[in-house]
Amino acid sequence: MSELKRIPLAGVIGSPIAHSKSPRIFRHWLTELGVIGHYVPMDIASVDLNDALRYLPKLGFVGVNITIPYKEHVLNVADQVSDRAAVVGSANTLTFLADGKIYADNTDGYGFTENLRHGAPNWKASDGPAAVLGAGGAARAVIASFIEGGAPEIRLANRTRSRANALQREFGTKVKVFDWVQAGNMLEGAATVVNATSLGMVGNAEMRIPLDGLSRDAVVTDLVYAPLETALLEHAKSIGCQTVDGLGMLLHQAVPGFERWFGMRPVVTEPLRSAMLI
Ligand code: ATR
Repeated sequence: MSELKRIPLAGVIGSPIAHSKSPRIFRHWLTELGVIGHYVPMDIASVDLNDALRYLPKLGFVGVNITIPYKEHVLNVADQVSDRAAVVGSANTLTFLADGKIYADNTDGYGFTENLRHGAPNWKASDGPAAVLGAGGAARAVIASFIEGGAPEIRLANRTRSRANALQREFGTKVKVFDWVQAGNMLEGAATVVNATSLGMVGNAEMRIPLDGLSRDAVVTDLVYAPLETALLEHAKSIGCQTVDGLGMLLHQAVPGFERWFGMRPVVTEPLRSAMLI
């Protein structure tokens, strides 16, 4: 078979990988857009990862998504790293270029911002101070996108304060660290509130933060999407805030990879959202 006629292959690499929703997202778009291509989950051991990434293009792979626990490590394997991936310190989207090089990008921040834009159409990162709960990998992508979007201040609270302090040192003076037990204090005057911890996820404790100081004009979002409406979102909605659930971030972060690999730009639609909830 000639190179030109090769069926493009893509996939997601992690370990474990069975839980990943990416294959469902990509298969939905491949079918919807009539693209001849395939997307597969791959559980690859860490000792085999570098060899696998170098070999996959030879098998017809045009790119792969990367998930836990390899998002940081793949930056060392890539030949080119996007500014966003460098700032966030991890990549979720690798593209195998025609010259054999690996290009690493991070689309989590893009997914985060697009989700808010769709869910709260008047929202802008620059609307006012942002309040971010959590200081893990997801919080890093969120903070980077607030800085890129022109937020005047990013207030940050994390159970382990040293992790928040480390992000403050890295991202600079726009980031202000608050004490975890007094996280409610950072909500006064905040335009956007983000839960970037795993609290509220099925099986975990709820995110309990007093919302007394929060303006009704604030937009509240949760990166947790199972359940879709977390206790935090329910509470915020009950006091009149606009809320945006976390499922859209997962869907939107997949758009740039699909477009790069399969040559068509997919759209995040209601039927896709519904398909993910079954
Ligand atoms: P991710 O890449 O998804 O952000 P992570 O790096 O493990 O994952 O970060 C998880 C986040 O949830 C962290 O901010 C973590 O707080 P710590 O840094 O103190 O661990 C937060 N988190 C997890 N369980 C928590 C809990 N029970 N209470 C408060 N925060 C919690």
